[in-house]
Amino acid sequence: MTERMYPNSMAFTATAPSNIAFVKYWGKRNQDLQWPANDSLSMTLSQCQTITSARKILGNEDIFHFEGRVIRSGDTPNHKVFRHLQRVKAELKIFDTLEVSSSNLFPTACGIASSASGFAALTLAATAALLGEHRLDELAILGMPRQKLAHLARMGSGSAGRSLHGGYVLWQAGESPETQQISQVTTASHWDLSDVVVIFSSNSKHTSSSDAHKAAWGSPLFPVRLAGITQRIERVVSALQEKNIEKLGLEIENDALEMHSVAMTGSPATNYFTEDTARFIAWVRDQRSAGNLPAWFTIDAGPNVHLICETADVAAVTDKLKASWPNLRLIIDQVGLGPTLSKGQWAENPGEVRDV
Ligand code: PMV
Repeated sequence: MTERMYPNSMAFTATAPSNIAFVKYWGKRNQDLQWPANDSLSMTLSQCQTITSARKILGNEDIFHFEGRVIRSGDTPNHKVFRHLQRVKAELKIFDTLEVSSSNLFPTACGIASSASGFAALTLAATAALLGEHRLDELAILGMPRQKLAHLARMGSGSAGRSLHGGYVLWQAGESPETQQISQVTTASHWDLSDVVVIFSSNSKHTSSSDAHKAAWGSPLFPVRLAGITQRIERVVSALQEKNIEKLGLEIENDALEMHSVAMTGSPATNYFTEDTARFIAWVRDQRSAGNLPAWFTIDAGPNVHLICETADVAAVTDKLKASWPNLRLIIDQVGLGPTLSKGQWAENPGEVRDV
């Protein structure tokens, strides 16, 4: 359905990638201010993207189209998308009504961080539509530099803030909610790494990450995790600088297992692993020890496994996977350059990334 257009309304389209955390954000020190319990570090992806268009319309209801469905703010004002649009409008002090259309190029809510790309794209598209500007340098002049956009995106979903940058990205918790920093550690061209995503299930996850962030504080393992995070980040940063995949791989596997141990011992406890996840990661370690698989796993809040490897090794990794697990669904992604903004076209439904 096309709404009554605002006079001279122009569509603005953002594409924002997801990101995969090498050191996970898990637990919040302050819920309302989205202040994380720990620093986190991620690789921005290139294929797993959300595409979001926004334009001004007449009327009082914001409208959100998501993969064929239409939601109106009058019916569901508390929907997290409408709450985020209000946040963007309040930040800019521009309160025009918006129509937004969004699609993911990958399955939603399955351990590929759709909320990261989703809130990054929503923040960019809504800001561009409200300010009538799509160039990032001009947005900075208008008071919305990338740093501020990243913080706005983080308010929608923490990990979304990291998707505002390309390459390898660090989100520092700082000493207070106001001193948080999201910045690029190194560019995508510094080191060409890939993420082979092994999809065991594309069903929605059973426990949202917001509930699991709260439950972390009940885990006896959480203080242990937090005590070691600064050193882990330092080791990951030096592995990135040295391009040392063994050193990086060891850290990302340990970090993922630590995060899931906190989830499994939280209050209430959450288990994102399925039997497939557990069997698969044991197989990855066996094959790697035998010299057959140059890849290291990480797992977000879902059952699917991300295998991180050097891009030069992707063919060897996928050949091995296909030979040993013929029915697996794979998505191959790679370190990417970060989000883009354009004006003029309205992205209706661009379709999904194809499996390999
Ligand atoms: O951004 P949230 O609230 O969906 O939490 C993200 C949590 C993980 O994806 C598991 C870890 C991370 O740092 O991305």
